[in-house]
Amino acid sequence: MSADQFSSGRWRRRNPARLVFFFLCLWSLISFSLAGRLSASRQKLEVQKHLNRLNKPPVKTIQSPDGDIIDCVHISHQPAFDHPFLKDHKIQTRPSYHPVGLFDENKISTGHKERANDITQLWHMNGKCPEDTIPIRRTKKEDVLRSSSVKRYGKKKHRSIPKPRSVDPDLINQSGHQHAIAYVEGDKYYGAKATINVWEPKIQQPNEFSLSQIWVLGGSFGEDLNSIEAGWQVSPDLYGDNNTRLFTYWTSDAYQATGCYNLLCSGFIQVNSEIAMGASISPVSAFRNSQYDISILVWKDPKEGNWWMQFGSNYVLGYWPSFLFSYLADSASMIEWGGEVVNSEPDGQHTSTQMGSGRFPEEGFGKSSYFRNIQVVDSSNNLKAPKDLGTFTEKSNCYDVQTGSNGDWGHYFYYGGPGRNPNCP
Ligand SMILES: *[C@@H]1O[C@H](CO)[C@@H](O)[C@H](O)[C@H]1NC(C)=O
Ligand SMILES: *[C@@H]1O[C@H](CO)[C@@H](O)[C@H](O)[C@H]1NC(C)=O
Repeated sequence: MSADQFSSGRWRRRNPARLVFFFLCLWSLISFSLAGRLSASRQKLEVQKHLNRLNKPPVKTIQSPDGDIIDCVHISHQPAFDHPFLKDHKIQTRPSYHPVGLFDENKISTGHKERANDITQLWHMNGKCPEDTIPIRRTKKEDVLRSSSVKRYGKKKHRSIPKPRSVDPDLINQSGHQHAIAYVEGDKYYGAKATINVWEPKIQQPNEFSLSQIWVLGGSFGEDLNSIEAGWQVSPDLYGDNNTRLFTYWTSDAYQATGCYNLLCSGFIQVNSEIAMGASISPVSAFRNSQYDISILVWKDPKEGNWWMQFGSNYVLGYWPSFLFSYLADSASMIEWGGEVVNSEPDGQHTSTQMGSGRFPEEGFGKSSYFRNIQVVDSSNNLKAPKDLGTFTEKSNCYDVQTGSNGDWGHYFYYGGPGRNPNCP
């Protein structure tokens, strides 16, 4: 055997192993990059499919000065009708009953500088939606990509409900949600109303938010909690900016599988052509300067059983069909009004995200944010002053609440705070 033969023989002997190794490397390289590209394109496809589900073909499109695109979508093509239970639903164009109240925003004189009726949505500057259409804030690709997953887009994280009097400290730490609220419980409620001061609180981190709202709650605080929520919010994650926006939320299983913000899932049926859920509210209040507020009324139509929502004194926005809920299909067992922020600072320090105006209740009108004309709807469909209004806050040194009542404002409270400060480190 020559040296040549020997070495080539050795080479030949080693060859299959080397070859296998080489092809293994090549294969894993190719499959790795292919898998990466596949999963990237799968995600792109998933996002696009979700956008197609959410963004219905518009009759007309309006560009808002704040960068939003408002699509005027035919009322019968809105996202609600993707719901299997709503296939043959006949739209109720108006509620059969409207609660009768003590206060009427148009009649009330407070002696303060208030121009509640001046409040509109920014996109109105550039047009109107035609009859038989509803305005829908278009969801952009970036909006969906900011959320943790396509499935979670437009949904609240679990367990963000303020639960007075039985605060589980672990829960506070776990969820990082903080509240300053007033509430009633222990009766059957068929709706709630309030006039809410509008501000633009500062948000420290994009994944935090600050909101001021009404909660209409049914059931225990377990896995089957029913909730209808409406108010204003600043949420950079959800909207991509720091604007104050009108919003709604609903869930029938404590924020798990059902429900969403605004029209970001099928459920709420909108009938109004002038107000877009999730659109910016303008103007907002300024410190020691002009104050603006919005009225929100949520009530149950005693005939059809649907839960309706009204914005201001003349915009009936639409309704949540009764079948979406279990407990709320009958009545609410608790009503809450107030603010909520998310504290997500990783280093143990408290967030400086503001609630309300970012000022404590002691400072009063023009400085601290308020809810006024707090009322509940009783079983006779009458608006009434709340009985035994309780208050709740997890950390009053960070965000606080103070109630009061007088002839002009009925039951009211000031609420909010700056978050991080020497007493809330
Ligand atoms: C929350 O967590 C922090 C740090 O882990 C801890 O120091 C604090 O005591 C906790 N607070 C409550 C209310 O459990
Ligand atoms: C929102 O406000 C924060 C500070 O409060 C700022 O850092 C951020 O750039 C703002 N985001 C946008 C989109 O304007």
